[in-house]
Amino acid sequence: MPKLRLAVLGSGAGTNMQSILDAIAGGTLDAEVVCVISDVADAPILERARRHNIPARFLSAAPYKTKLEGPAEEAYIQAIREVGADTVVLAGFMRIVKPGLLAAFPGRVLNIHPALLPAFPGLHSWKQALDYGCKVAGCTVHFVDAGTDSGPIIVQRTVPVLEGDTPETLHARIQAQEHLAYPEALRLLAAGRLSIRGRTVAIA
Ligand code: GAR
Repeated sequence: MPKLRLAVLGSGAGTNMQSILDAIAGGTLDAEVVCVISDVADAPILERARRHNIPARFLSAAPYKTKLEGPAEEAYIQAIREVGADTVVLAGFMRIVKPGLLAAFPGRVLNIHPALLPAFPGLHSWKQALDYGCKVAGCTVHFVDAGTDSGPIIVQRTVPVLEGDTPETLHARIQAQEHLAYPEALRLLAAGRLSIRGRTVAIA
């Protein structure tokens, strides 16, 4: 299998991207991060990428606030194609991606979500789980489809919700599992072991 060429899109700290870089450096993931793009000019993920000598750029997604569409979507597609990426990794990218991007990279756009989907799609999912009184929470890596956090699931990892948890302590526990889940999902993809059958991802 040729090594994966990953374009990472993120809006925040970039700890999931870091876990992917660590897996690559540690020899457990056969991939290369060929670019990092953020819709937030001063997002720490950009600085983190540059420290690893990865081309990193801010690309505005204006005028929209919550989605990637229109000319901005075109610019993202072009930037991702330009570096020869074959897989788009959404790692804390806080926008809904639209059919244009999905059509440009069919079956090759992945996302990580801080909840056990289909529970708690959308924002601040760990807080939703806490407020709901869940005893178990977790994270999901999934292929992206045209819905919100609704695509076929590749990997899920669970954590307990503990007495006295705050949104912050629960999010931290979930994030520790995210950092295992994303490299794991990408390892399966890199090995050619994933196929999408309807809603289900078969793992060979
Ligand atoms: C992660 O917890 C990720 O699951 C979440 O944003 C955080 C990004 O952290 N994503 C979403 O909520 C998407 N709806 P990071 O920048 O440190 O990887």
